[in-house]
Amino acid sequence: MLDIRSGLEAAAAAPAPPVIRREDYRAPDWLVPEVELAFDLDPARTIVRARLSVTRNGEHDRPLRLDGEELELLALRVDGEAREARFEDGRLVVDLPGSSAVIETDVAIAPEKNSQLMGLYASGGILCTQCEAEGFRRITYFADRPDVLSRYRVRLEADKARFPVLLANGNPIEQGDAADGRHFALWEDPFPKPCYLFALVAGDLQCNRDSFTTMSGREVELGIWVREADLSKTALAMQALKDSFAWDERTYGREYDLDRFNIVAVSDFNFGAMENKGLNIFNTRYVLADPETATDGDIDAVAAVVAHEYFHNWSGNRVTCRDWFQLSLKEGLTVFRDQGFSEDMGSAAVQRIDQVRTLRAAQFPEDAGPLAHPIRPDSYLEIANFYTATVYNKGAEVIRMMRTILGPEAYRKGTDLYFERHDGQAVTCEDFVRAMEDASGVDLKQFRLWYSQAGTPTVQARLEQDGEGTTLHLAQQVPPTPGQSDKQPMVIPLRVALIGAESGREVAAEQLVLLTEGEQTVDLGTVGEPAFLSINRGFSAPVLVDAVRKPGEIEALAAGDSDSFARFEAGQELMTRDMLAAIRNGGAVEVEAIVAAVGATLRSQSLDPAFKADAIALPGESLLIEKLDAADPARVHEVREEVRRAIGTRLGEDLQRAYTAASAADPTSLSGADKGLRRLRAATLALIAAGDAKLGASLGQQQYEAARTMTERQSALMVLAMLGTDASGKALDDFFTRFEDDPLVIDKWFAVQASVPDESNLHVVEALQQHPAFTLANPNRLRALAGSFAGTPSAFHRADGKGYDWLAEVIVAADKLNPQTAARFVAPLGRWRKIEPGRAARMRAALQRILAEPGLSKDVFELASKSLG
Ligand code: PHE
Ligand code: ZN
Repeated sequence: MLDIRSGLEAAAAAPAPPVIRREDYRAPDWLVPEVELAFDLDPARTIVRARLSVTRNGEHDRPLRLDGEELELLALRVDGEAREARFEDGRLVVDLPGSSAVIETDVAIAPEKNSQLMGLYASGGILCTQCEAEGFRRITYFADRPDVLSRYRVRLEADKARFPVLLANGNPIEQGDAADGRHFALWEDPFPKPCYLFALVAGDLQCNRDSFTTMSGREVELGIWVREADLSKTALAMQALKDSFAWDERTYGREYDLDRFNIVAVSDFNFGAMENKGLNIFNTRYVLADPETATDGDIDAVAAVVAHEYFHNWSGNRVTCRDWFQLSLKEGLTVFRDQGFSEDMGSAAVQRIDQVRTLRAAQFPEDAGPLAHPIRPDSYLEIANFYTATVYNKGAEVIRMMRTILGPEAYRKGTDLYFERHDGQAVTCEDFVRAMEDASGVDLKQFRLWYSQAGTPTVQARLEQDGEGTTLHLAQQVPPTPGQSDKQPMVIPLRVALIGAESGREVAAEQLVLLTEGEQTVDLGTVGEPAFLSINRGFSAPVLVDAVRKPGEIEALAAGDSDSFARFEAGQELMTRDMLAAIRNGGAVEVEAIVAAVGATLRSQSLDPAFKADAIALPGESLLIEKLDAADPARVHEVREEVRRAIGTRLGEDLQRAYTAASAADPTSLSGADKGLRRLRAATLALIAAGDAKLGASLGQQQYEAARTMTERQSALMVLAMLGTDASGKALDDFFTRFEDDPLVIDKWFAVQASVPDESNLHVVEALQQHPAFTLANPNRLRALAGSFAGTPSAFHRADGKGYDWLAEVIVAADKLNPQTAARFVAPLGRWRKIEPGRAARMRAALQRILAEPGLSKDVFELASKSLG
């Protein structure tokens, strides 16, 4: 067993956690077709009685081994006879002579002491569960792996006054009163499922009820369960749920399969939401929304996450993963499906820009750093660390590329075949690709490299034009990543068109070019005029494009590419080019081209406001840092601010005109047009303030006070907080008092202040940490403070390294409560390779200090040691 601790300067004394490898997969020794569970629920001490029917899987004489974690075993019976328990490596080992048996265990657990939020835990008086990936073992002894599928019958019993609502997966069978003021409910889930999809909820909840009639005419009862005070904020989630049911029928032919579909919202949750069969459990953040307390972005995210979890019913639950290395099988596919939903419900062009923004901000740095891994990883210490932007978002891009290569019809045939062939099974990414091949007849042998090779490929492109015609020269490189030094050329689908330099029209219509070799040339025929290259249109492949550009080419594409995504990209390329040049040469920024491009965008009569808002936003500081070697974050900030100031001063009138026009947005409307106007209003206000602080402050204050939506209020508050005047203090106080009772809005109050891009902002962050409303125990609150701060380079990267020290201390403290969430803050410290040596040394020192902490979780250990390595 490889010990990745060896060689580490700060190696702690504890034994290294074992490395789990994909190649070591073995089918389960025992299957568990039937499970009966009885919960005697009590926050302090819950008793779980389990009855498992187990059957030997294949010819072997190995004992049954059951996972268990933090369980107090009260009794063990085999076929009704009491047995002495035997443990090996923390697992319960049961020797069984025959080919089947009935195993019964009684265990005790303490939900209210469960601060990891894995297994059964208490959140604001609600008892709920989280089992993915390996949380079920914290509830009862079980074969906690996704390829063991069981039918569940679950009895819940609890105090009726405190827990009037008792929910579990599947259909309700029976309910009634029990002794001592208690009551019970019996639930049965007819579909065999892996234990990571198990869920129960007990609490004082109210229900927003609705129904949906499926394509075959079955009536499904829908319920969204929340605290009474939150009921009024569930309408948007309910609409999204019904839209999701209809969309999956229309787009993928997938129908829901139970009589009930329930969603429960809880305040303490490690991730966004969980697709438990028939009983999704959500972070409140992705359920509760209304325009006064949630921004348009928040509202869109609610719809996307509701859709995502619902779509898992087929891509994840009916067809599940064989092992956790296959996580992208369900997550990449389901993200791609929820992206399709959002594209169809809103503006596809704006959605695509947002998707790529997310990919670039979260996944590209991961793929370029010490934590790079393929979308189907080969090994891990802690699977919770692999719920990453790579597995999710790059995974979705890989599915999207297959659809692009096969075409929409063959892709749909492929998913039909996949669902039909593997319904009720636990399968692999390979099974998915094979279904695509079998349905389409397209050979995807080389394409499979996207599953095994990590790293973002770079595509070099050069257009050559002469009397003979037009030739596109392409080359690709896949960079080395940890554990993968040599890479093979990938299949890269590039949507390409040529735009006439004189006419501005498409002189070569868009075509799909498949780059499969290290170097390749493509004949694009003859065009009557000099042409500009529009490449990777719609972001057809998740690659970095490095194109040789003619003078004026990028400017022309930014002003008029016929593909709106490519047009946006050209603008970003132009801004990046000129900012990087100034960062590198130390002089003033050449702002003419940027100002001209932003001005033209603002004045355009044809572009829609949402696109304008995206197009005038400068690439973020993190993105610029990623493109540099030995970046000085202070210099990056200085240059970007210089550009913002130039835009603000030089285009003051255009900005104000656009700002005023955008103020016409109807605050009661969530239409794409009104959301777009609000987006443009926020973007223009920020630039106005960059050019003229006084005007920015007064407009910001007016907008804050007159705000009727959180979108307007939050964007004004952010501008005021950045300006740091008296008015900002007043607005922040007002914001707190106004929303004191709304935790999700108070998260914003923390996030806004922790996002101020100023070297001295650490003091504010430290003060916020002492605020009575702050707690390390709630993941949303912790993300609002630590995540926002670490995501703001100019504040986080203080020259004295104190920002790193602060984050390291927070990670260590949070790790004692909640390793999964603590581990999510390690990655920013791992970016030291991109930072100048002085700061980089301090980042490494912070990682070493984390690693020196006794009793570190494997979650944090894995990421900190890999980040240092
Ligand atoms: N499977 C969840 C999803 O829909 C994510 C999740 C993972 C939630 C682990 C909780 C714990 O993406
Ligand atoms: Zn998911």
